[in-house]
Amino acid sequence: MCGIVGYIGAREAYPIIINGLRRLEYRGYDSAGIVLNYPGSNELIKTKGKVADLEEKSKGKQLNANIGIGHTRWATHGEPNDVNSHPHLSNDGRIMLVHNGIIENYEPLKIQLKEYGFTFESETDSEVLANLIQYFKSKENLSLTEAVRYALNEVVGAYAIAVMDNESSDEIVVARLGSPLAIGLGEDEFFIASDASPFVEFTKDAIYLEDGEMATITRGEEVIVRKIEGNEIVSPAIQELQIGLEQIEKGGYEHFMLKEINEQPKSILDTMRGRLLPEEGLIRMAGIWDHKEKFYNAKRIIIVACGTSWHAGLVGEYLIEEFARIPVEVEYASEFRYRNPIINKDDVVIAISQSGETADTLAALKLAKDKGAFIYGICNVVGSSIARLTDAGSFTHAGPEIGVASTKAFTAQLTVLTLIALKLGNHNGNLTTERYRSLCYELMNIPQLVEKALESNDIIKEIAAKYKDSENALYLGRGYNFPTALEGALKLKEISYIHAEGYPAAEMKHGPIALIDENMPVIVIAPKKGHYDKVVSNIQEIKSRKGKIIAVVTEGDVQVRDLADYVIEIPDCSEEFSPILATIPLQLLSYHIAVMRGANVDQPRNLAKSVTVE
Ligand code: F6R
Repeated sequence: MCGIVGYIGAREAYPIIINGLRRLEYRGYDSAGIVLNYPGSNELIKTKGKVADLEEKSKGKQLNANIGIGHTRWATHGEPNDVNSHPHLSNDGRIMLVHNGIIENYEPLKIQLKEYGFTFESETDSEVLANLIQYFKSKENLSLTEAVRYALNEVVGAYAIAVMDNESSDEIVVARLGSPLAIGLGEDEFFIASDASPFVEFTKDAIYLEDGEMATITRGEEVIVRKIEGNEIVSPAIQELQIGLEQIEKGGYEHFMLKEINEQPKSILDTMRGRLLPEEGLIRMAGIWDHKEKFYNAKRIIIVACGTSWHAGLVGEYLIEEFARIPVEVEYASEFRYRNPIINKDDVVIAISQSGETADTLAALKLAKDKGAFIYGICNVVGSSIARLTDAGSFTHAGPEIGVASTKAFTAQLTVLTLIALKLGNHNGNLTTERYRSLCYELMNIPQLVEKALESNDIIKEIAAKYKDSENALYLGRGYNFPTALEGALKLKEISYIHAEGYPAAEMKHGPIALIDENMPVIVIAPKKGHYDKVVSNIQEIKSRKGKIIAVVTEGDVQVRDLADYVIEIPDCSEEFSPILATIPLQLLSYHIAVMRGANVDQPRNLAKSVTVE
């Protein structure tokens, strides 16, 4: 939620910050703002709307400072309007601040500051923090670093902040607790950002602040990192960035989402690379192998996640129970963290998260850790909070996912979960060597089958044109493809704003069947394996109520073809791998419908890519 960018060096800060904000817009796009720090003065421009609106508002201004900070906002406190936009200034106009997160105790702090004579323009928690910093700075005559530290010690909540003082145009102070913050280290210049994408073309060296740390970044000097509580200086690890510019650009596609859907043959292969070695008869996963006793002795595995990652967790449950016969429970992280769950020391808790920053998943994991469970992460973002908190884990190597709707991260999560389930099943003896080997060989071939599944794009476009004006849609699947149905429905609703529900196909007659009439498109996932005959019966039930049937079937299927209004073929594969293939046409269908409805596919309304507030 919210993206922060900053720059200090010899170049003009404005273009670097604007470009950086554009790359971070996936984190929130309710408003955008920038402030440049000139000796003794500043230039503040902010607006409701997108970074493009900010650029429009900046036209014609003389913006040549070489230090500044910017922000793109996903609103939490106060509606998205110009006044609530960041950056915020303190009452004396000297302190400039951008903030990602939530100051939970902002109300009492605000009341106190009002008693000291401070006034407030906005409804935000962030303006309170700017004034609190001013308060400490002037009352105690502190340096900016000290004033920020004093203020943060009064704050309860989550934050990544960047702060400047117009008494000095040579310094930016940053801090983090619960929201990510990276510092790019160039030659005599520094970049600040919520993730490294705004500065990949300038430097490969970055410091990722740890929770509870702050840094003073001064022109021409070393970055000084210290603990917010206790003030102890720490020596930060400098990490080499693994991402390149090409990975965060659209590469000729109209939208990031379409690019990311089409990248899946590669992202799945990258996720298997070096791990799946069928010739040698093994799956190599250090995170699992080094802690195998934890998994084998586990009485159960609990998977915690949100949204699409939760859907991947549901497929994980089927896979692990099938291949390794270890009981699995899948929980919404947001429910798990607040319901006093029973967690034992011999439980393994797996968190699944693309961003590695989702606040609820992070909190669920902390709870499990406190109760002594072994915690394992499946994350896409290296260096993310979840990745750092876990005892061990496996990264998905999907590459940066920029479209807000998750696509390639989902299939990469399914790939990692399949590898884990196969590995556990092989080693605890629940899978025969023969079956294990044959599944490994088949899995190796999945990227090619995904490539084939993508070839249905034209028929999917035709279907999209036919149903784009629907107000509702039902998605049905059974077994492994019940989660696929949930995921298909989520994709459609989040980017096209069509109301869609996913159901286990057999549940339809317990209520949802009442919705079916000649206007209701029902997307049925009906591959040949698994509960095919049962799903065919469900299709008959829909047909006799005149519902419109769009079926995802195995290539060559004739039975469903006769019943359905449209079929989309996917290649034949084992039932256990079918969610990876069946999800591809559902992603494309949502994408085309959303484009045809004129929706902003990469930045759907009200959403943000990384949900760092609960
Ligand atoms: C939907 C989507 C969200 C995320 C959810 C969890 O397309 O992207 O539902 O899956 O917000 O995010 P992560 O995986 O980053 O924890």
